Amino acid sequence: MNINWYPGHMKKTKELLQQQLKLVDVVYELMDARIPISSKNPVIDEIIANKPKVIILNKADLADDKITKLWIEHYKSEGIKAISVDTLSGKGLREVVVEGEKAVKEKMDKLVEKGRKVRAIRVMTVGIPNVGKSTIINRLAGKKSAKTGDRPGVTKGKQWIRLKGNMELLDTPGILWPKFEDQNVARNLAFTGAIRDEIMDIETLALRLLEKLWITDKDKLISRYNIEEGLSSGLEIMDNIAKNRGCIISKGEIDYTRVANMILDEFRGGKIGRISLERPTTSI
Ligand code: G4P
Repeated sequence: MNINWYPGHMKKTKELLQQQLKLVDVVYELMDARIPISSKNPVIDEIIANKPKVIILNKADLADDKITKLWIEHYKSEGIKAISVDTLSGKGLREVVVEGEKAVKEKMDKLVEKGRKVRAIRVMTVGIPNVGKSTIINRLAGKKSAKTGDRPGVTKGKQWIRLKGNMELLDTPGILWPKFEDQNVARNLAFTGAIRDEIMDIETLALRLLEKLWITDKDKLISRYNIEEGLSSGLEIMDNIAKNRGCIISKGEIDYTRVANMILDEFRGGKIGRISLERPTTSI
């Protein structure tokens, strides 16, 4: 992670975000569709409070579609609108705008009834690093986007980007910290590449990923790496993958760094398949 989160910085970030939230009507809370629990900031609900929000399960192209649908149902059962989005291909982006508008329609209609002039709906994106905030802002803005100029209260340099419909998007995202004190969360973030690999050595990280996938997505692993029958431990599976892929140093000795990097890269790039590491357990 490029940002060093320490208590003072977290407090400042929280306060800044609370200021920015006063300027917007809707929040897009971005999460990684593969790990909606691990990629959620632990205090975001408290910060957003009653402000209308739409959850964006981004990188849906890398997640298991069936599980993403379960997540959407899960949020729905909690009264929260969630959308699955693949920002790279643009799939789901139209819905992002539509749902953003819907989330504040009632409020806007009331203002109009009171005789107030129709104004643009203001939105901002929020999320932990690497969930795709900058990418989605750029995609939503598109090439023809016009900057609408500074608004009072927005930190100098921040601008509103005019979107389709009647919306304005803050050009800088709210960046929050992940729940890194939880080992399981840290591991999921490391598996997906959201945090640097230093949390544990690369070989152990790849081994843990293999162990996890062997339970949840065995078929995908077998078909990607041609793993032979009868293996059970993570190390045996890793050795088998290394041999099949020629990750050998000399005299048959396994190049663990190479095979570990390969497995992690292929997982992160979706080459092992569309895999979700977390599924909802309640309220569905
Ligand atoms: P951030 O502002 O929230 O920190 O995230 P950013 O937009 O920089 O995106 C982080 C990485 O995620 C980028 O990859 C970006 O291309 C990728 N990404 C964003 N949205 C999607 C999506 O819907 N699907 C997929 N597959 N990838 C997405 P990158 O530039 O290669 O960075 P990195 O992965 O090397 O860190």
